[in-house]
Amino acid sequence: MPADRNIPVGVFDSGVGGLSVLRAIRVRLPGVPLIYLGDQANVPYGPRSQQEVQGFSESITRFLLAQGAGMIVVACNTASAASLKYLRNKFAGIPFVGMEPAVKPAAELTRSGLVGVLATPATFQGALYASVVERFAQGVTILQDTCPGLVHQIETGELESLATRDILEKALLPMLARGIDTVVLGCTHYPFVIPLISKIVGPNVRVIDPAPAVARQVENLYASLLPEQRLESKTASVNYYTTGSSELMQSLLKQLLGDQGEVMELPWNHGEL
Ligand code: DGL
Repeated sequence: MPADRNIPVGVFDSGVGGLSVLRAIRVRLPGVPLIYLGDQANVPYGPRSQQEVQGFSESITRFLLAQGAGMIVVACNTASAASLKYLRNKFAGIPFVGMEPAVKPAAELTRSGLVGVLATPATFQGALYASVVERFAQGVTILQDTCPGLVHQIETGELESLATRDILEKALLPMLARGIDTVVLGCTHYPFVIPLISKIVGPNVRVIDPAPAVARQVENLYASLLPEQRLESKTASVNYYTTGSSELMQSLLKQLLGDQGEVMELPWNHGEL
């Protein structure tokens, strides 16, 4: 059976952040076709209301299912915080994998007892984050920062610029002064600036990108829910969609993943795709 006959997995984010998750999924499930949608017409989701993000997430999920996806990865902490529960109720029977800030591994690994978390305002305000902190961060001090503007810098491909460094230094230097030894990347855009983060925090601070753990979860769920699928190691296709400019997404795809893939433009039409 050709690899592309496998049931596709749909992956979405407000923009290109979810590509950090897609990259990890491709490592674990190279034979599974992926459909990626970046809602670049509406990025950033971080400052938006829960209802608004739920509306976007619902329409995007409907589109991905219509394209044949058998499982949905909400590759966005903000969309997961706002709508994972909502989507599971709305689309009963469809398996979803979402993101939550990796506070649990950070709390287990920290020796100084101080952990920095970088995420969007909506992620910090959501019930999912509060519950993760309550369950796993007992006895650990969590320092938070929303890194205003950082998602925009990554969406414009500015991974190393002075302005990007400035945003990260503003967030991280006060945390370093307090003694953090672990940083959690609670936004899927941020793994693309790990080289810069590492330069700022130095070699003694661990930076946690949750993408590999989420990809493992996707692999397990895919295998248990769709056991009839044959997971050949042959690389399957990825179909990329953006609600914004395909040219911009295509150049970011090349810059961030080294992927020359075609991107299809999918404009919003009265709240539907
Ligand atoms: N990539 C996102 C996240 O994981 C969202 C960033 C945004 O759109 O504000 O939270």
